[in-house]
Amino acid sequence: MTDDADTPPTGDDTQARREAALAVLRANRREGYTIPSATLYPFQWNWDSAFVAAGLASADPDAAATEIRTLLDAQWANGMVPQIAFWTDATGYFPGPDEWGAGSDRVRTSGITQPPMVVPAARRVADALRRQRGGSAAEAFLDAVVPALDAFLSWWLRERSDDGDVVYVRHPWATGMDDSPAWTPVLESFEPLDLPGVDDLDYAREDRKSESLADQRPTDWDYDRYVALVRQGRAFDWDEVRLREVCPFVVEDVLTNAIFARACADLGGMYDELDALGEEGAAGVDAADRWREQAESTREACRDRLWSPALGTFVSYDRVGERRLPANSVAGLVSTFGGLPDQGQFEAVRTNLSENFLSYERACPSYVGEGMDLDRYWRGPVWVNTNWLLADGLRRYGAADLASRIERDTVSLVEREGFREYFSPETGEGRGSDRFSWTAALYLDLTD
Ligand code: SER
Repeated sequence: MTDDADTPPTGDDTQARREAALAVLRANRREGYTIPSATLYPFQWNWDSAFVAAGLASADPDAAATEIRTLLDAQWANGMVPQIAFWTDATGYFPGPDEWGAGSDRVRTSGITQPPMVVPAARRVADALRRQRGGSAAEAFLDAVVPALDAFLSWWLRERSDDGDVVYVRHPWATGMDDSPAWTPVLESFEPLDLPGVDDLDYAREDRKSESLADQRPTDWDYDRYVALVRQGRAFDWDEVRLREVCPFVVEDVLTNAIFARACADLGGMYDELDALGEEGAAGVDAADRWREQAESTREACRDRLWSPALGTFVSYDRVGERRLPANSVAGLVSTFGGLPDQGQFEAVRTNLSENFLSYERACPSYVGEGMDLDRYWRGPVWVNTNWLLADGLRRYGAADLASRIERDTVSLVEREGFREYFSPETGEGRGSDRFSWTAALYLDLTD
């Protein structure tokens, strides 16, 4: 850790805080990628790297491009980009590579994925490269990443969709919002030791052992179920066909689908870009149209299956229990990032946001409703990444006033508390780990 990274970025000087953000990212950088946090997450995480790249795109497009290329180097032969790539040995995190028993020739990985944020992030990086380094730098980057991004989105449709439109995940960690109250009914539907393939539940999590963090993390009850799902996946060799028969967690997560729809549209945009640069010709035009059409049909299917008229928001769907999972979380609002709401649905989402989320001192809590916990992980605290997605989505729907409120609150939380992992929506106090990479990177984008 450098001295710079130890200096809390408080005070009025935005330039000094931007320097501090860059210092955090330098301190967390390893060979070609950035770890999310030196205290909690010492490997490369999928959507963390995507947010780091998106946030860093303008400030340092070359580092952002490298971040994405390293993440895609961890891609499996079937196209899946894993949630964790274990490029080096490190201690302090469970489950490590032996527990997952997964990976490719190049690197050991976890056995699940995360929302395909890497695609929208890559598009931002390509735009920044074109602006700052010229067309050929953008073209070289797109040439290198577009085939892998296409393979990743194709994997979702081939392996993780029943209707070719809405995609599903098999683990709460794959949603990125690990302990969202939305998952509770699904996690209650099984006993960890009754799952086929699960023989024992011995493990230890550092964050549960730490007295200062235990109240801000998922509970032992949650972790028992997360670990059981990992052990089941490993017992079935991460084979989708066999897991489909036995895994109790098959969820069409609204956040994943919002990011997936946006990713399809953005991949179409990147094919257009390659075409304009003289690369792809007719094949590129076909691919661009195909991915844009996919974005639209995913949106339409989500409008039908994931809309909750009672809550006035989008929710996730449990395919095993065949039911909607009615939680009023920020994921439903981030539907805007993917263009999921039609105009009528957007009006309801806007009302829901104003009445139920913006009533808190600091926007935007990750969850409101029964079981909200202002300090615990994804059960209430404010997160910088979901705020950033939400502000982008709101601008797309013309709600610039609401987007500005979210952005202002985000910047002021960081100014007050530093680059924390998450924040209390009531007191604004920082929670979770410090010097958190995506908080630093997205702060750079928000103050650009
Ligand atoms: N956030 C998860 C964890 O706590 C992994 O993605 O381990």
